[in-house]
Amino acid sequence: MYKKIKTNDGSYTLYNSKFDENYHSISGAVQESYHKFIFPCKILFSKQKISILDIGFGLGLNCFCTLFYISKISTEKKKVIFYSFENDIDLFNNLNEELYLNNDKNDNFDLSFIEFFLSKLKNKLNDINIKNNINDDENSFYIEYSYQNIDVKHYFFIGDVRKFNFENLNYDICYHDPFSFHNNLELWTYDFLKKIIKNLNFFFLTYSFSLPFLNSVNNLKLDLFEIDPIGRKTPSILAIKKSNFLNCFKFNLSVYKPLNDIYYKYLKSKSAICYFDKKFDLNNDQIKENRVELVSNSNLESLSKIKKTCKLSPK
Ligand SMILES: C[S@@+](CC[C@H](N)C(=O)[O-])C[C@H]1O[C@@H](n2cnc3c(N)ncnc32)[C@H](O)[C@@H]1O
Repeated sequence: MYKKIKTNDGSYTLYNSKFDENYHSISGAVQESYHKFIFPCKILFSKQKISILDIGFGLGLNCFCTLFYISKISTEKKKVIFYSFENDIDLFNNLNEELYLNNDKNDNFDLSFIEFFLSKLKNKLNDINIKNNINDDENSFYIEYSYQNIDVKHYFFIGDVRKFNFENLNYDICYHDPFSFHNNLELWTYDFLKKIIKNLNFFFLTYSFSLPFLNSVNNLKLDLFEIDPIGRKTPSILAIKKSNFLNCFKFNLSVYKPLNDIYYKYLKSKSAICYFDKKFDLNNDQIKENRVELVSNSNLESLSKIKKTCKLSPK
């Protein structure tokens, strides 16, 4: 089910046969993590205490690279809280030191820490009894550890992230890193995005540039910014709860590149109609089928018609 793949920056990722997808871009797994998720959050890492919702723990690269980066840019004592969600329990048995071996050719990668982390995580998983199909507190636990100047409390929620209760969680950042839009649609619906954005303080990061996804985040009143693409043609996305952010930070958002205006025109087309999963119980095909009906009943203009009337064309 999993196959080890070497990516172009020397780091490894896995290929997942069920999704027929790699966990990271072939252009560089570690590079992707820094570029799409970590670097855009630099300003928030100046906080003494930072909490991160990590959707799709996978190989854990987003969490590891966050710690390596924070420890590098800061001399003060820091506290990091991760809330990591993963529904593939078998994956954990496939995470071993060798998978991260070549990563230490990348700057900022600490292999000895990964070994320590994996043994701590596996000990915990051996101690507890993860139950299939139970998506509540019984399938969650935390581990505590330190990395250099950072004290970490790392919560794990094992099961379908849609089913967990988020009411009591509050987080500064969300790394939204599921499999691709069309394969893992249940994590790209308007309803799921609404659920995770509700308790978000500041930054939401992800990599899809599909119109229904952009439309969902736009409807949820976040400000959208483009992160320059790597390993693919389209940019990835930083969405900000702007008023929260400006209340807490004296920081000029002009360093970020706002979503090109043309996309707001495209969001008025049929092609941008959102996907829905109100009760969090639909599978990929059901979510797709329901939207086909919404699109066919819609009076909105087609994307091609809107594109013809727009002078500016996106890069
Ligand atoms: C692209 S990979 C994440 C890579 C990871 N962020 C990293 O840094 O290595 C997507 C992950 O999302 C997980 N996933 C997919 N659907 C899920 C769901 N409904 N609930 C929880 N996790 C899910 C997959 O099992 C997979 O590990």
